[in-house]
Amino acid sequence: MAKNSSISPSVIKRLPRYYRFLGELLKQGTERISSRELSDMMKITASQIRQDLNCFGGFGQQGYGYNVRDLHAEIGKILGVDKGFRTILIGAGNLGRAIAAHINFSTRGCELVGIFDIDRSLTGEKAGELSIMHTDELEKFCRQKKPMVAVLCIPKANTQEIADRLVALGIKAFWNFSHYDLSIDHDDIVVENVHLGDSLMTLTYRAKAAEEAARDQD
Ligand code: NAI
Repeated sequence: MAKNSSISPSVIKRLPRYYRFLGELLKQGTERISSRELSDMMKITASQIRQDLNCFGGFGQQGYGYNVRDLHAEIGKILGVDKGFRTILIGAGNLGRAIAAHINFSTRGCELVGIFDIDRSLTGEKAGELSIMHTDELEKFCRQKKPMVAVLCIPKANTQEIADRLVALGIKAFWNFSHYDLSIDHDDIVVENVHLGDSLMTLTYRAKAAEEAARDQD
């Protein structure tokens, strides 16, 4: 198996999409696929696919293509989808509840074990399958359950403070939605800042470019 450190960050970014498409193929009972067929499905070039998947070695064979089950399993291992990292979610407002209810953590390497909010009126309410706890419980909970990942769905202003508190409680990875670009000065802590608005602006940029191209043709 390839070591994560030997795979470039741009390939790692594309791996979840390969994993998703290969998972769909597996569900349909497809045993093998050529880079050409995968390219048609995923709308990226066959040579890019070959280049990306060469990193793992031994999966693509001339005249055979890729073994879908093996490649899916290998990419899953690289992504850590079987890790089951214990995960807590902080901030059970509109976004936090939507994430708790709609993100399938368990197929993505995480197990959601606790949801916390500072608002006492929410304590005991359900979010997804879990009951919301008050943030006063965080220390005790983390001592007992030792979560490793935290999802932050709280306002910007409170983010750094809660992140520092969570680092002290052993959290090593943040999935941060709070519109505050967290940076934590520890080599062993990883942060994924998520801004859905950035994705929307990428779309508007492309829509604008398409509109301009159509206008130029008139
Ligand atoms: P919301 O107001 O519905 O929920 C926020 C929740 O956080 C509330 O229940 C509040 O009591 C709780 N909270 C505040 N401080 C806390 C703390 N220190 N510890 C624990 N809980 C705390 O807001 P909503 O709509 O759920 O959004 C949450 C945040 O996510 C906002 O800052 C919003 O701007 C951001 N957001 C980010 C998106 C993204 O793409 N990154 C998309 C949508 C919202």
